[in-house]
Amino acid sequence: MSIDSVGLAQRLLAAEAIALEAGQLAARLLADRAALGVSLKGAQDFVSTADVAVEQLIVGRLAAAFPADGMLGEEGTDIKGISGAIWAIDPIDGTSNFVAGRPDWCVSIGLVVAGWAQLGAIYQPSQQALYSARRGHGARRNGVPLRVAERPLAQSTVVLEYSSRVRPERHAAHVLSLLGTGAEYRRNGSAAVALAQVAEGTLDGFFEAHLNAWDVTAGLVLVAEAGGRCNDFFADDGLRKGNRVIAAAPALFERLAELFHTGAI
Ligand code: IPD
Ligand code: CA
Repeated sequence: MSIDSVGLAQRLLAAEAIALEAGQLAARLLADRAALGVSLKGAQDFVSTADVAVEQLIVGRLAAAFPADGMLGEEGTDIKGISGAIWAIDPIDGTSNFVAGRPDWCVSIGLVVAGWAQLGAIYQPSQQALYSARRGHGARRNGVPLRVAERPLAQSTVVLEYSSRVRPERHAAHVLSLLGTGAEYRRNGSAAVALAQVAEGTLDGFFEAHLNAWDVTAGLVLVAEAGGRCNDFFADDGLRKGNRVIAAAPALFERLAELFHTGAI
């Protein structure tokens, strides 16, 4: 079974509507922060009762609309499906920001078909920003087309994200090598928000040594469709095992790939 162009268009509309609804649910739950149950899955790896409730909402909506599709979600959803399409769902990306009341968190819903990210929607409630993209059809923020930046490396700001899945020494080495080029760096705690910002050109590039498919599928389509370049995240079973992520404006991509392509995590 393969998904035709109409099927992809339907799925993009659904991803946009569900990301919006899911973000609104998360924001409502956050409004009563004292009632949120928060626990740790690992070092600095937070999960809240909102993450679980929002994933349930997204999975329910997608299963009702596309019952043959597979799904992988950060909070444990793993449905194989028979259509060949797999949704990669992050109910709240940037949970550490979310639980502390900081604004950089979002809902991220991406779709992978035959090893390629095909479309995605990211909703960042604090900015009321709905980003979406479909391969071959451009990227948009609230309907406005997006384009990556064109700054030279020495005037660029590159996001270097980090998690305890990677040795801290490696992260520190990446920061040092980037600063050696004259570029600046940022880390905002939400890979999906950062990738959306690379797509809209407010940031120039992104690197993290290991991310999961739910963190990045939507963001990778956004960057590619806004004219940027990304590594082949889905190589070597990235869908299930995760992978490194490099995404950047075209003029910076090769240089960043050279700087960061350094061995195992
Ligand atoms: C995390 C964020 C963070 C990245 C971590 C992810 P979560 O996801 O995307 O930016 O550096 O690797 O695990 O836990 O906030 O959904
Ligand atoms: Ca995440």
